[in-house]
Amino acid sequence: MNIPLKPQTSQPARALAGKVALVTGSTSGIGLGIARALAAAGADIVLNGLGVAAEIGRTREQIAVEFGVKASYSPADMTKPRSIGEMIAATIAQSGRLDILVNNAGIQHVAPLDQFPVEKWDQVLAINLTSAFHTTRLALPAMRQNGFGRIINIASAHGLVGSPFKAAYVAAKHGIVGLTKVTALETAEEGITCNAVCPGYVSTPLVEAQIDGQAKAWYFARSGDPRRAAGAAAEQALCHGRGARRVDGVPVDGRGRFDHRHRAPGRWRLDRALTWAAATSCRRWRVFDQCERTRSET
Ligand SMILES: NC(=O)c1ccc[n+]([C@@H]2O[C@H](COP(=O)([O-])OP(=O)(O)OC[C@H]3O[C@@H](n4cnc5c(N)ncnc54)[C@H](O)[C@@H]3O)[C@@H](O)[C@H]2O)c1
Repeated sequence: MNIPLKPQTSQPARALAGKVALVTGSTSGIGLGIARALAAAGADIVLNGLGVAAEIGRTREQIAVEFGVKASYSPADMTKPRSIGEMIAATIAQSGRLDILVNNAGIQHVAPLDQFPVEKWDQVLAINLTSAFHTTRLALPAMRQNGFGRIINIASAHGLVGSPFKAAYVAAKHGIVGLTKVTALETAEEGITCNAVCPGYVSTPLVEAQIDGQAKAWYFARSGDPRRAAGAAAEQALCHGRGARRVDGVPVDGRGRFDHRHRAPGRWRLDRALTWAAATSCRRWRVFDQCERTRSET
């Protein structure tokens, strides 16, 4: 996927030149967008994530050529602490530094709580939360040595509010908001910042994969017909529901309600917040606050 970037007019060009950024889960979606934004600001990039080797190779090459930076790739599996350790060690060995860590890798699984597969709970927690604990604890010594570090955790609106059928995801995202606060407090005097970004819905493979799961979960939980629920939702919210003319890019739930709190912040806003967080010496909560403000403004 090739995400066009708007020029970062509020940032000096190449503000991150000489910095090394590792973005977990950056072979698609939001992570790839972040990697490209950081590369556009001049940072050398370490990509990570699952996918087809040839496609990942092309993405890596494209970033290097388009932005004139070094781009490498680690296939580390975020469910495996040893593999995460090898990725951080290799990054530091190859580049001599690790300045920016973006904990973005994530998966979703949708099911009613009493039917939630135990192995899915473990997998969601491992990828969305525990991997960030490992990358952070392993990156901190190198950041401390340089007196500089930017850690950005991609949480979610679900780090702040709950939704039915997303027990593991909501628990993991609330957890990563907590981990962010602790990391920020422990590193406050060391030139290292840690922030969490809490996006609303963004159209990526992770969200597309939820649609069937949500329909199924509502079916199990309500014994209704998911096709009817989905049809009613679309009809009510998008065609003639109250305020339907104003509905654009807003998620609609299985009962035909839409929630303006979850409206996706424009991608440019996310890019801007992330590049700004990585480039400046902003302290602890400012990106988090900014995203909160962004959502309440929309
Ligand atoms: N899309 C949204 O609406 C949305 C909203 C809020 C937060 N988020 C968060 O943004 C982050 C990125 O999600 P996305 O929507 O871009 O999804 P995505 O599916 O496009 O990307 C997920 C990335 O994680 C990687 N990944 C998955 N399992 C992995 C593993 N075991 N080891 C290494 N990498 C692995 C994938 O390969 C991919 O690169 C996630 O943390 C997600 O929770 C997404």
